[in-house]
Amino acid sequence: MLRTLFITGLFMAASMTTAQGNSFDQPASSPFGKTKSGEAVELYTLTNGKITAKIATLGATLVQLHVPDKDGKLADVILGWDDAAGYQSDDNQYFGCTTGRVCNRIAKGKFKLDGKEYTLATNNDVNHLHGGLDKALSKVVWKARPYANDKGQGVEFTYTSPDGDEGYPGNLTVSVTYFIPTDNNALRINYTATTDKATPVNLTNHAYFNLAGAGSGTILDHNLRINADSFTAVDDTLIPTGEIKSVEGTPLDFRKPVRIGERIDQVDKTSTQGYDHNYVLNAPEEGKPMRLAAVLTDPASKRQMRVMTTEPAVQLYTGNFLKGQKGKDGKTYAHRSACCLETQHYPDSVNHPKFPTTILKPSDKFTSQTVFQFSIAGAAKE
Ligand code: BGC
Repeated sequence: MLRTLFITGLFMAASMTTAQGNSFDQPASSPFGKTKSGEAVELYTLTNGKITAKIATLGATLVQLHVPDKDGKLADVILGWDDAAGYQSDDNQYFGCTTGRVCNRIAKGKFKLDGKEYTLATNNDVNHLHGGLDKALSKVVWKARPYANDKGQGVEFTYTSPDGDEGYPGNLTVSVTYFIPTDNNALRINYTATTDKATPVNLTNHAYFNLAGAGSGTILDHNLRINADSFTAVDDTLIPTGEIKSVEGTPLDFRKPVRIGERIDQVDKTSTQGYDHNYVLNAPEEGKPMRLAAVLTDPASKRQMRVMTTEPAVQLYTGNFLKGQKGKDGKTYAHRSACCLETQHYPDSVNHPKFPTTILKPSDKFTSQTVFQFSIAGAAKE
């Protein structure tokens, strides 16, 4: 009897009805393996019946994203692995993770804040990259709170990074919420953060996209539009010089859709070894918090992705260091077989007072939103 009541209770909690009478289900989860130190990792599934995302508690990482093509055929459009072990291997180049505390680079891993100098790990030649080493947000297990309502399904991941972790000041509490609305083929990511000491924060998602399906070839035939007139010029170690340069007349001009492979040779033999550039996004439309960052299209499947964000910049990275590692379903991830569109603040902002600030103060709350919106090219406005 008690057991029956318990099971009925579980069932009721899992499948409920809103005040409006719509039924909705709590996102399901399943085991995804363990960390090297034995912590259990869970994988959560969000779906609206048309697109499906799977997100792991390790690094609050987007592991799968299934999206329909022009014929309704689904493909998983992001790179990743089938279990937590893959994400902890040397082959993992930040696949799908929540990246921080500060994504992108900090020059020589050093910055000064309130008169004090801080030293972070240098894990990218002489520079600090993507939040550092084993305590970076991409490497730790987050707490998950799945939820559902009449608007869709979501899961909120939270993590408190202690004062001094990876050399950063302040106890930083971060929340990342993934959400798939019922009525829209979009994946929304909302970030918040609070701290008890001033500290730099710059959060992004590092998903590697291939709209033909992960592991199906290069993205050189994808068309890309980036809503940016300028970019942050960098030195040989990819640290901004401080100069904001126009894309006009350069292979970085994606203001109209261009095949990614069209001019990639012109940036191949440079320090970026392909596209690895931070674009300064054009201002949002009057009164709108979100701006268009980019539109990525696979002409064969006609899958199209619009990236919208509250962030001022987007890093285009064309998988220049992918090395043929084996990922989900044994698929191979060759050089340039995916690209990242990482919404964020400019790199090394903490050392550039003229850039939009990345300093979070104890009295403030960091908020940021990015939406990956899927459609069929030609079916709606580009
Ligand atoms: C950076 C690349 C780096 C890659 C690592 C990107 O965000 O811009 O330079 O190699 O992340 O996966």
